[in-house]
Amino acid sequence: MSTYQVVYTSKTGNTKKLAEKIYDTLNSKDKEIYSLDEGGANADADIYFIGFWTNRGTCSMEVLDFFDNLEGKKIALFGTCGMGGQEEYFNNIKTNVSAFLPDSAEFLGAFMCQGEMPDTVGEKYHNILREHPDDEKIKFMIDNFNHAIGHPDTEDLNHIATFVKDIEGGVS
Ligand SMILES: Cc1cc2nc3c(=O)[nH]c(=O)nc-3n(C[C@H](O)[C@H](O)[C@H](O)COP(=O)(O)O)c2cc1C
Repeated sequence: MSTYQVVYTSKTGNTKKLAEKIYDTLNSKDKEIYSLDEGGANADADIYFIGFWTNRGTCSMEVLDFFDNLEGKKIALFGTCGMGGQEEYFNNIKTNVSAFLPDSAEFLGAFMCQGEMPDTVGEKYHNILREHPDDEKIKFMIDNFNHAIGHPDTEDLNHIATFVKDIEGGVS
């Protein structure tokens, strides 16, 4: 039987929601979950679900550092990002992050969804809009900020559960 680890980093809780849903969805009894922010992850499992929050179009350094331990492992990626509604944007991030997996690893696929942003981000956008009321870009950013509220939502969690079941069904 394959053993699983869900390993993630999450600053404001969005990616943590996905990680916990993955852990709960996995049928295998041989599963562990670790936050890279707290430690404990190791290279003992066969199959990894690695989660990241998007940092300037890719993942943060601690995720890249953890990839170094995963030679020869089967790896699925999952992540959240502030920008939503554009599959192409999600795909670019998936490509950017998966490019750093060890050559010997088997990439099982990636899942991305939108994650809500802190209120301070919305306040910043509104301050800019007050100074530049005709700025279409800032209006777009405010719409996107509002759309992100509540994500990952129940639908996102259902989607990631399907992603996990497909992967688990394919490897065991
Ligand atoms: C420093 C920083 C950089 C970010 N860069 C991006 C980015 O390039 N693209 C994007 O869509 N979201 C970006 N975000 C938004 C986060 O990826 C998003 O809110 C994510 O869901 C946070 O996940 P967490 O709650 O697990 O920390 C950035 C956030 C921070 C703090």
